[in-house]
Amino acid sequence: MHIRELFSLKDKVCVVTGGAGKYGKCIAEGLAEAGGTVIIASRNLSQCEEVAAGFRAAGLDVHALAVDQAGPDSVRQFKQAILARFGRLDVFVNNAVARPMKSYDSPIAEFAESMRVNATGNMDILREMISLLELNQGGSVINIGSMMGMHGPDLSNYEGTDMTMSPPPDYYFHNAGLLNLTRYLAKMLAGKNIRVNTISPGGLFNHQHPRFLENYTRKVPLRRMANTDDIKGVVVLLASQAGAYINGENILMDGGLNA
Ligand SMILES: NC(=O)c1ccc[n+]([C@@H]2O[C@H](COP(=O)([O-])OP(=O)(O)OC[C@H]3O[C@@H](n4cnc5c(N)ncnc54)[C@H](O)[C@@H]3O)[C@@H](O)[C@H]2O)c1
Repeated sequence: MHIRELFSLKDKVCVVTGGAGKYGKCIAEGLAEAGGTVIIASRNLSQCEEVAAGFRAAGLDVHALAVDQAGPDSVRQFKQAILARFGRLDVFVNNAVARPMKSYDSPIAEFAESMRVNATGNMDILREMISLLELNQGGSVINIGSMMGMHGPDLSNYEGTDMTMSPPPDYYFHNAGLLNLTRYLAKMLAGKNIRVNTISPGGLFNHQHPRFLENYTRKVPLRRMANTDDIKGVVVLLASQAGAYINGENILMDGGLNA
């Protein structure tokens, strides 16, 4: 197959949860620019509709649906809506995240709330989206984790800033779990033509505190944070036939910070 066809997502239906968020928008744009029909979804339908309308104005095939991944009924309605409106699913980008916990000593109820969305809800939506891929005789699941699921916090990044020196533990916990869930699913789905991979990104530039930017980027061999293009190629690789033999893998995308 020609390399252009290998990377093409023409006729592919892709879902990006949290697709109106910071990394989600970049992912949705990359998939749509590669020719995919992209559905961005979160609890905030009007925000997703606004972002999708912006992409459509730029000629991309992007749509919005509502889903609360922590609500079992909402997840099932979402699945039915995908089938009713688009007829199939080829690519599921599991990108949504809730961040209810603020520091190490936040109330344990906030840890439980994080697990409700980021662990239990995540598992629920993963199984439901995978069942759509099975109906379709195969597809690709891309879990968006974090380098923080692979490494402990580097508190020196926060020196001289107004940011907390006590990063929340739930984020490290569920992102690490996602890596092994990826391997579990890759093996459990053997013979079903479904690939499951994780991308573990580093920090996305978002006008952070100047001292944080200085502290962080001097440790990155590429001397910068991730920009809005960086994740697009990795996600299209894993979504498309170009990544057809990559399965159960984790791609650390951090500019070499943790090399
Ligand atoms: N931003 C970064 O620097 C960074 C770095 C490394 C990894 N990541 C990873 O990238 C992914 C996206 O992070 P982000 O920073 O873009 O987040 P964000 O906060 O900008 O977006 C998160 C999205 O998830 C949605 N969401 C939250 N709870 C939901 C629920 N119950 N049901 C459905 N949707 C829900 C929100 O509406 C939002 O659209 C996450 O997996 C995160 O771990 C981000």
